[in-house]
Amino acid sequence: MIKEIHEGVYVLRGEGADQLATANIAPGVQVYGERLVRFGGVEYRMWDPYRSKLGAAIRRGLHTLPIRRGSAVLYLGAASGTTASHVSDIVGLQGVVYAVEFSPRSMRELVMVSETRPNIVPILADARSPQTYRKYVSRVDAIYCDVAQPEQGKLAVDNARVYLGPHGWLMLAIKSRSIDVAADPRTVYGWEKKTLSEGGFSIEEEIDLEPFEKDHQFVVARYLHDANG
Ligand SMILES: C[S@@+](CC[C@H](N)C(=O)[O-])C[C@H]1O[C@@H](n2cnc3c(N)ncnc32)[C@H](O)[C@@H]1O
Repeated sequence: MIKEIHEGVYVLRGEGADQLATANIAPGVQVYGERLVRFGGVEYRMWDPYRSKLGAAIRRGLHTLPIRRGSAVLYLGAASGTTASHVSDIVGLQGVVYAVEFSPRSMRELVMVSETRPNIVPILADARSPQTYRKYVSRVDAIYCDVAQPEQGKLAVDNARVYLGPHGWLMLAIKSRSIDVAADPRTVYGWEKKTLSEGGFSIEEEIDLEPFEKDHQFVVARYLHDANG
């Protein structure tokens, strides 16, 4: 049995445990060795919550998934495209995923993923300098930020100022040990959320990602400004 739990996100109920999945926009092609399953004429890609923080947040009961069919998404820290590929399935061919990554090695793999997924635009750039990719990116409905770096909240706010539309959304995966190894993770989450609030966001949802990821919090926030104001 298949149930759609968010737009474009499915749970497959079989004999074993429930599995998260998206409908594959590149039928027959795997991105990270995930299982492909056909059901009712549609091919689904299993989504591993141990390999994807967005998958983990959904498994942990995320209420608001601000990505839908046709959305434009700016994805910061795309790595080799594991989560970005599921976002690409969700937004579909009417949507677009601007995928920013600064590691040339990861970018090579991301470019290969984008060859079968025309809605992924791979951009080799440093997300700390949002102006440098201005000519490739238009205004977006949502920013997904998973750079696992200090000052990730500031980096997200800086990108929002340039690209996020009015009342747009941010999903931020906060990795506390990337910011301060010694501090209590809850203190670190608080610092990053304060940065978001001061940068014009209202925090709508926060989810700890245990047991899928240790010392990570996933935050969904709404932008109270538009990109030009
Ligand atoms: C935790 S991994 C991302 C995993 C990916 N989001 C996924 O779920 O498939 C963090 C990525 O952010 C990239 N990164 C870190 N700082 C960055 C920056 N300033 N600009 C662009 N990419 C950055 C790293 O190279 C790494 O590939």
